[in-house]
Amino acid sequence: MKKKKKTDLQQSIMEEKNDIETSTGDSKFTLLDVIRIIGGLLLLNAFLSWWFTSTGTWGYDGKWLDIRYLQFQLRRDYVNLTSDELKLYNGKNPKYPIYLAINGKVYDVTYGRDIYGPNGPYEFFSGRDSARAFVTGCFDKPDEFTHDLRGLDQEEAMHDITSWQRFFENHPHYWYAGIVTHKPIEKDIPSPCEHKKFPGYHVRNT
Ligand code: HEM
Repeated sequence: MKKKKKTDLQQSIMEEKNDIETSTGDSKFTLLDVIRIIGGLLLLNAFLSWWFTSTGTWGYDGKWLDIRYLQFQLRRDYVNLTSDELKLYNGKNPKYPIYLAINGKVYDVTYGRDIYGPNGPYEFFSGRDSARAFVTGCFDKPDEFTHDLRGLDQEEAMHDITSWQRFFENHPHYWYAGIVTHKPIEKDIPSPCEHKKFPGYHVRNT
């Protein structure tokens, strides 16, 4: 009889303890449960994304999935190059990223290796500051691939340069990587040429 009383007492103490744990939120909800729930949500997300877009990222394929861009964002290691150093990033060495520059601003265009790398249609932009060629479009004239803007209509030049800089900054796969500094210009002003504009230029710039 005494033993039964003791067991009843123990039982009610246990129940009381459980009540207190629940009411104070100190339940058996462990870190493992949290991990399980997050894991489940991630799996569900991946499944739905695959179902609707046939990709694991809801169709997103931009630079935020690029490990190099993530590293760059974490370290914020902007480059500060001379024109000679910039030449190393012309795509010829596959170990280096590909950079192009427009009026002192350097852009990482490594993702476009087919375009800016060796034998690409725009390889002439890589590893140098071709601000002038971005304005004139005179790609057949070697002296156009310079940051020298003398002799150009300055309003047109600044308008086109800003527009191209925006193109590279906002591009889904390219990004602003830092600056390049140039020595003072000692050459003659490049001879004039008939400007060729990017197709759809007027649409993009309105
Ligand atoms: C000021 C003149 C021009 C500049 C600065 C320029 C520059 C560029 C750049 C930076 C790209 C983007 C490449 C990328 O996606 O990374 C491009 C694409 C392209 N350019 Fe040019 N370009 C010019 C004129 C022209 C002209 C005159 C033509 C043809 C007659 C042309 C044909 C193309 C084509 C077909 C593409 C790829 C498709 C597109 O994105 O629209 N470009 N150009």
